[in-house]
Amino acid sequence: MHARAVAASTTALAGVVVLLLPLSPARAAESARAAEGTGGAAAAPVIVAHRGASGYAPENTLAAVDKAAALGTEWVENDVQRTKDGELVVLHDDSLVRTTDVEEVFPDRAPWKVKDFTAAEIARLDAGNWFGPEYAGARVPTLEQFVHRVDRHRQKLLLEIKNPQLYPGIERDILKVLADEGWLDRRHVRQRLIVQSFSADSVRTVHELAPAVKTGFLGTPPVADLPAYAAFTDQINPSHGSLTADYVSAVHALKGAHGKRLEAFTWTVNDAAAARRVAGFGVDGIITNNPDVVRDAVGC
Ligand code: G3P
Ligand code: CA
Repeated sequence: MHARAVAASTTALAGVVVLLLPLSPARAAESARAAEGTGGAAAAPVIVAHRGASGYAPENTLAAVDKAAALGTEWVENDVQRTKDGELVVLHDDSLVRTTDVEEVFPDRAPWKVKDFTAAEIARLDAGNWFGPEYAGARVPTLEQFVHRVDRHRQKLLLEIKNPQLYPGIERDILKVLADEGWLDRRHVRQRLIVQSFSADSVRTVHELAPAVKTGFLGTPPVADLPAYAAFTDQINPSHGSLTADYVSAVHALKGAHGKRLEAFTWTVNDAAAARRVAGFGVDGIITNNPDVVRDAVGC
């Protein structure tokens, strides 16, 4: 594949028993919102496998997508970057060092940045052995390969544009691949795709190029700034560490770029206690390396 420069175009006794049992966090949040009169039945948060089920398989590989599917996880998150020759690949770091054997295969190519390697060179790398010998031979997938695998499992994709400052025009490139692979049709756009970034400019660009696509901004903007973000994004996706119920309520008080309630997916929540805490805040999504742990904790 090549660089793409073309625009792209979530009985009475029985009743007593229910009342006595503690509510799950998601149900508690729903109940609290109902009591506050903030309206609308709250759904349980969706669970998103962060970089695939990366607690169990090497992050951002097809094996991690497969593991997420095996765990019954509806959503998969990934990180997209661009090679020297314009291919879109799925990898978190801007360097290949941590998650591949690039230092062995190309010892003279420090600092081993993704942008300095061709797609053919990256395809030679092992992206699984660092995680465990049973994953030796796993490759860095292209975006095309990744979406094929997500589609095969009938999963949904939370696509993160990683380091867009390093890759001018990557938003158009991503949208072109998604269009070519059938991911910008009505069904995908309405139900199965969200594009997010830490870069507000990148999120805004996606919204302008493909207004139908649901978007998310990664971060925790001041509450006073949220209306400006809501003009071009449908989600505010904060780190869970400093998240509060009040912040989630402030997000929910606004309408996003498509006129629906602004949402909050929080990351990266890997233990049961944290999952219960954020579910109690009423978040719409929980992004986790361990989807089974979150599912068991939150009861969704
Ligand atoms: O999807 C949220 C999360 O992936 C953002 O942080 O560094 O893991 O890409 P990071
Ligand atoms: Ca990410």
